[in-house]
Amino acid sequence: MTDLSLGIQRALAANPLREPVLRVVIESLQLPRGSHGLDAGCGIGLQSLMLADAVSAEGHITGLDIAPEVLSFATDNARRAGYAERITFCEGDVKDMPFEADSFDWAWSADCIGYPAGELTPLLTELARVVRPGGCVILVGWSSQQLLPGYPLLEARLNATCSGYIPFLRGKDPALNFLSALRRFREAGLRDVKARTFVGDVQAPLSGGERAALASLFEMLWGQPQAEVSAEDWQAYQRLCVPGSADFILEDDGYYAFFTYSLFRGRVPPR
Ligand SMILES: C[S@@+](CC[C@H](N)C(=O)[O-])C[C@H]1O[C@@H](n2cnc3c(N)ncnc32)[C@H](O)[C@@H]1O
Repeated sequence: MTDLSLGIQRALAANPLREPVLRVVIESLQLPRGSHGLDAGCGIGLQSLMLADAVSAEGHITGLDIAPEVLSFATDNARRAGYAERITFCEGDVKDMPFEADSFDWAWSADCIGYPAGELTPLLTELARVVRPGGCVILVGWSSQQLLPGYPLLEARLNATCSGYIPFLRGKDPALNFLSALRRFREAGLRDVKARTFVGDVQAPLSGGERAALASLFEMLWGQPQAEVSAEDWQAYQRLCVPGSADFILEDDGYYAFFTYSLFRGRVPPR
């Protein structure tokens, strides 16, 4: 299995957790019906489909990604779902996009730009360039989770050494963290800048999709043993989080978990 096919599998596996909350996020934006939007760093295009629903059949979505393999999957998936006319996928780098200025009514980017830490201002400036004055630039990112009810200290320690995102955070300037995006929106010249956090949650009895999504998430977050994890915590992880283990937490009939997505948005000023 290549890394990319693992990435596609993880994106598909995570969708039962992500889709309900991301639909609420998209609904909150009240994207105009008939508008033309950009999904920057669209991956396999699962949100491109939701964004296309939001703008209705009169609107149009362009999905942009740097990886041809995910775009090929996204194109086939959108065609199979009946959205071939409503979504166009194209290859490109969010840092220097192959679009004229003012090409879109709004731009959305989820779990791509600056997540969890990166240099946001030039990217926001580039997104603002391709959105017409008055349109919105929207960044959305997974921002926290509580997935091990009853084990908050273990979860905090696993998070502190997490293989899924610590490599992206360690040694990074706090000002570059995704949750510091308000300042970056203002630096990029965007107006009416707002932040909001949305909660997704799941509870027992879990559907098959939710179960698979959570098991995949455990593995992605904590599944690579890190030097800093104590032997005791690693044993506890194996006992609670690995499918088939005696105390697999997803078998608990009282299981409840939640996670958050944070949204930042700003309006493009008159040129
Ligand atoms: C974690 S995935 C998120 C995909 C999708 N937005 C979602 O939330 O399901 C990040 C995506 O960003 C893309 N990406 C990373 N750097 C990029 C860049 N410089 N330009 C365009 N796409 C990029 C990756 O190829 C990947 O598909």
